[in-house]
Amino acid sequence: MNGIDVAAALAAFRAALAEADSPEAIERVRRAHTGKKSPLKLALRNLRSVPPEDRRAVAQSINAAQSQVESELSAAAARVLAAAREARLEADWMDLTLPGASTPRGSRHPLTEVERQCLAVMRQLGFVPVEGPEVENPYFNFDALNIPEHHPARDLQDTFWVDNNLVLRTHTTSVQARELSKHPALPFKVVSMGRVYRNEAVDATHLAMFHQFEGIWVEKGLTFAHLKATLAFIVEALYGPGKLRFKPKYYPYTEPSVGVDLACASCDATGCSACSGGWVTILGAGMIHPKLLIQFGYDPDEVSGIAFGLGTTRMAAQSYGMSQLRPMYVPNLTLLHSLYRGQS
Ligand code: DAH
Repeated sequence: MNGIDVAAALAAFRAALAEADSPEAIERVRRAHTGKKSPLKLALRNLRSVPPEDRRAVAQSINAAQSQVESELSAAAARVLAAAREARLEADWMDLTLPGASTPRGSRHPLTEVERQCLAVMRQLGFVPVEGPEVENPYFNFDALNIPEHHPARDLQDTFWVDNNLVLRTHTTSVQARELSKHPALPFKVVSMGRVYRNEAVDATHLAMFHQFEGIWVEKGLTFAHLKATLAFIVEALYGPGKLRFKPKYYPYTEPSVGVDLACASCDATGCSACSGGWVTILGAGMIHPKLLIQFGYDPDEVSGIAFGLGTTRMAAQSYGMSQLRPMYVPNLTLLHSLYRGQS
């Protein structure tokens, strides 16, 4: 065949292709066996050296071999691509049935927990939550609550004054004054909770910032019996059944005013370091002072109100068995975890 061995060219191509295991290697084989200097292309160019009577048959066999080369190259390229995809899938494979790496679950802060409990109890009694500012006009914190200028609670010692003659509210009772000044329709039952601030020397049971929660109910015909029953319900819902003691107190914004003590759970009311003679004071309360009712546009002969305030921080400390209040405000995960598990 005059130096043109199509079968040998095809065999050389196939041997090279069998070695090619990547798209790049296949490309190299393609260039070597279909390019201008490939054996088959050279053979075509050399057709003139073939005797005329054989040329047609030789040309046909070269062309057939070229087609064969093209189709084998395509098939090999597809095979290599499929193998690469297969290998990638194999490498990326993951077992979706394996349990995931679990993120440790957080828990609510004891204060948040207690606030939520308080809100839930108040909601049962029909109280609606409201909010008030922590930086307050002294009018709502003091004057509107019948705490005039000369009252000891207004002493600079007890109150943080800030710019523009504003104060950091010293109690959530300021929210009562704010809400009543809007002359709400009766019956009016709201609950408010949040931070309060006092310029206190910090010790085991006193902080310069702590949490309170406050309720107020104004309606025709409310009596001291409503106050007692409401407080008894709330205290039982929050602390469980226990002995309560009402004692006379003085608050400028209520008349009469009472303090409510709970028999100490740690010592069975005999007296210990966590209580005072067997009793723990948990809240202040009273019938809203007629002066306030008049000031906010209600007739005290017709309308009366009950109000009460609890220290949420102290309550949380009690229910988590903490003898100090300060750790409640320290971002200490170990402590918070132990509180969460009730192991403090
Ligand atoms: N404001 C009082 C305090 O901070 C608590 C209090 C007492 C709230 C009597 C009241 C109330 O609403 O009627 O100690």
